[in-house]
Amino acid sequence: MQSKVLILDFGSQVTKLIARNIRELNVYCEIIPYNSSLEKIKSMNAECLILSGSPASIHDKKPPLFDKRILDDNMPILGICYGAQLISHIFKSNVKRSKIREFGPSKLIKFKNNKILQGIKNRSVSWMSHGDTIITLGSKLQILAKSEFGSIALYKHKNKNIYGTQFHPEVVHTAFGKKFLANFIFLISFCKNNWKPGKLIRRKTLEIKELVGKNRVISAISGGVDSSVSSVLVARAIGTKLNSFIVDTGLMRKNEVKLILPNLKELGVNPKIINASKLFFMRLKGVTNPEKKRKIIGKTFIELFEKEAKRTKADFLVQGTLYPDVIESVSISGPSSVIKSHHNVGGLPKNMRLSLVEPLRDLFKDEVRVLGKSLGIEKDLIGRHPFPGPGLAIRILGEVTQERVKILQEADDIYTRILKEKKLYDQIWQAFCVLIPIKTVGVMGDERTYENTIAVRAVNSTDGMTASWSRIPYDILDLISSEIINSVKGINKVVFDISNKPPSTIEWE
Ligand code: XMP
Repeated sequence: MQSKVLILDFGSQVTKLIARNIRELNVYCEIIPYNSSLEKIKSMNAECLILSGSPASIHDKKPPLFDKRILDDNMPILGICYGAQLISHIFKSNVKRSKIREFGPSKLIKFKNNKILQGIKNRSVSWMSHGDTIITLGSKLQILAKSEFGSIALYKHKNKNIYGTQFHPEVVHTAFGKKFLANFIFLISFCKNNWKPGKLIRRKTLEIKELVGKNRVISAISGGVDSSVSSVLVARAIGTKLNSFIVDTGLMRKNEVKLILPNLKELGVNPKIINASKLFFMRLKGVTNPEKKRKIIGKTFIELFEKEAKRTKADFLVQGTLYPDVIESVSISGPSSVIKSHHNVGGLPKNMRLSLVEPLRDLFKDEVRVLGKSLGIEKDLIGRHPFPGPGLAIRILGEVTQERVKILQEADDIYTRILKEKKLYDQIWQAFCVLIPIKTVGVMGDERTYENTIAVRAVNSTDGMTASWSRIPYDILDLISSEIINSVKGINKVVFDISNKPPSTIEWE
């Protein structure tokens, strides 16, 4: 039986990090909304439960609450930050709203030995980030550790396997965080480490066969890792009942189709190339508004899917949907506004006739890469940086023309090549160029130039939700700038984007 950990999500930015940490320990883990009922939780057959942090406070007018009956069950429970404060509050502890947030590193001072602290040295550095503070504990709880500043950092129920931690074990700054989570899930909850993404091929292919039956399936391959891995899996499961295609939008990276085709063919996927670049350029003519561009491209994609589905008599469409896209997002502070209309999962029309095959729905990106490797997909394809559905159209500010796409493709190709040569590509989560069609004056030889600017973007991230700009060494930036300006006609300036997300976004449009 596969072990399972459940996380009740109270809306913290880093809930997904808890899940990733646990999956990296080879234990399957799912995130569910904080208000899930005891019945729902019991039906999911998990070994233990983790309550996440939250932007909310237990002193808010309507704090997010969980089904308290869970505490009467025998399931091991770990509350993190808000989760710990909430549990301690229910057990009659005194939780105070502090004026000053305790934020940053703090040494952990052990008070009592417990399995959850096994192998963790006294005064190890933990990471704190909280507004409210647990001042005193109710009589059923006991302190296991304090912060070096004297606040309660870790507690336990005296008779039950219920724990609360004020520090964040899920962030990298808590050096012993993984060990701490491992102690909770293995020593206290007796989970087995039997989640191995590389060994999922058999199970996934069986599931696909069962879902699809005798029907035909289509898949659109974008050149990204998700659509490639899902298509190879479906091809393994149903062979020639899969018709795959690549829409050449004219908005892809340089030589994209040529690069991905041979390996896909080797693995039994033989996509038809649909050359639709004329159609895309025609529809994008004169369009400068980013949202309009996204809508036009999304709509055109759907039209082509449907045409292809009709032609091949398909009833199913493969989608490379990943786990972070399907986690039911909890909204603690009201509905969030649409920042950009991403077109993948959310962009499919509601009345679409095709049913979906989503073999990667329960996986994180890193796990998809592991699975892809076991399927025999080449390292270069698996390691490619994420690429947005609307392609280079949202990396060209202003109107998208063939000429501008060509300029951007050339610059981006040089940039990527240098990052690979300098062994930086695999360390960066996503890197690309953006064309800023504003002309500035330059000088080349003795000649005055009046050309466009290229912005170079590189970010580190775990899932694209937040990102920090990558510190590419100056001498490599210098090389990138010189090569782009010297070789790409139409560019006389290169700038480096040093903005984080939030408040910026990764793409420029
Ligand atoms: P932003 O710009 O929102 O991007 O910070 C976050 C991540 O999502 C990618 N992205 C998209 N992916 N369809 C996609 O499949 C889209 O419409 C889209 N827009 C942005 C972006 O490249 C980054 O990895």
